[in-house]
This record gives sequence, C-alpha cells and structure tokens, in this order.
Amino acid sequence: MTCVSKVTVSLKLLGAALLVSASAGLFAADEPAKQAAPAAGPSPAKQAIAVRKAAFTLIANNFKPIGEVLQGKAAYNQADIVKRAERVAFLSLLLDGTFPEDSNVGAPETKSKPEIWTKKADFDKQIKEFQENAAALAQIAAKESTASDAFKNAAKAVAEGCKGCHDAYKAK
Ligand code: HEC
Repeated sequence: MTCVSKVTVSLKLLGAALLVSASAGLFAADEPAKQAAPAAGPSPAKQAIAVRKAAFTLIANNFKPIGEVLQGKAAYNQADIVKRAERVAFLSLLLDGTFPEDSNVGAPETKSKPEIWTKKADFDKQIKEFQENAAALAQIAAKESTASDAFKNAAKAVAEGCKGCHDAYKAK
C-alpha cells in the first residue's frame, strides 16, 4: 500500500465512524424524552412552584386594572377590561396540576400552606370556582359597555376568590 491509499482508507474509516456515531446520536436523541426526569434542571416540584407563582403574578398583574375600576379608582374601558378578564380566565387554567404533593415544602420556596394538601378537595373546589368566575367575568365584560352592576358583581366574585383562598391557603 502506498501512503496515499493508507490515507484514503483511514479517511473512509473515519467517515464510517462518524456516520455510525451520528446515527447513534440521532437514535439516542429519542431516549431522554422517554425517561421520567431529566438528569439536570429543576425537579418537577420546583417547576410546579415556579409555574404557579408565575401564573399568580400574571393573574395579579392583569386583574389590577379590573380591581381599580371596582374601587372607583379608574374609568371602565371595555376593550381593556375584556382583554384583562380574558387573560385572567386563561391564566387561571394554568394553575391546574401546579400543586403536586411533593411541592408542599414551605418557606422560603413557597407560601402555599400545608392545608392545601390536607384539605385538597376544598382547595381544588376554590380553584375551580375561581376559574369559572374568571370565565364568567370575561363573558359579562364583553357585553357591558359601562361598569354596570353585572360587571361589578362578576368582578367582586373573582376578587373575593383571591382573598378567600389567600386567607385559608397562602402564608403571609
Ligand atoms: C384557590 C386559591 C387561590 C386563588 C383563587 C388565588 N390565589 Fe393567589 N395564591 C394562592 C396560593 C396558594 C399562593 C402561594 C403560591 C406559592 O408560593 O406556592 C398564591 C400566590 C399569589 C401571589 C404571589 C405570587 C408569587 O410570586 O409568590 C399573588 C400576587 C397572587 N397569589 C395574587 C392573586 C390574585 C390577584 C388572585 C385573584 C385574581 C389570586 N391570587 C387568586 C392561592 C390562590
């Protein structure tokens, strides 16, 4: 064998080796998804805590202008209120599944009280009512061009849901 053909052979071998490792990589790419938890990154409980906090932060941010109308601090702007109410209704649905048992870890990670898990049926009911009241508010706001009693009652129901649940299930 000449030197050149040796190089050709080893290049061919290298090419074959690369091909094998590349396709092994392709198949391997499917594997981690089948496993329960990724090796790195936050645990499912930590993710659940992060998601529910993020959802509540966005819910509060979007409910603020509605609360201001309710308190007479701001004028009723139907287009904006409908947009906000629709967001709160959608965001409330993101709370589903964000209170797994193993996320009952207390301060400083979470302000969720242990009662959430000892009175799970009541807590779940409050979440569900909150979601229903938020959806109702969005529908009512879409029909009301002023801060009518119908709008105010629907907004109050949502606001009372925040307070009622916080009093029972959220640490100060
Ligand atoms: C069914 C119960 C429930 C309802 C309804 C509810 N909350 Fe909460 N909220 C909680 C709990 C529990 C926490 C604590 C979350 C944690 O730290 O794990 C929380 C946390 C928060 C936080 C803090 C988020 C953070 O980053 O720590 C804000 C702000 C908030 N809620 C606002 C609201 C507003 C505004 C409403 C109504 C429009 C509302 N919540 C409705 C139970 C509720």
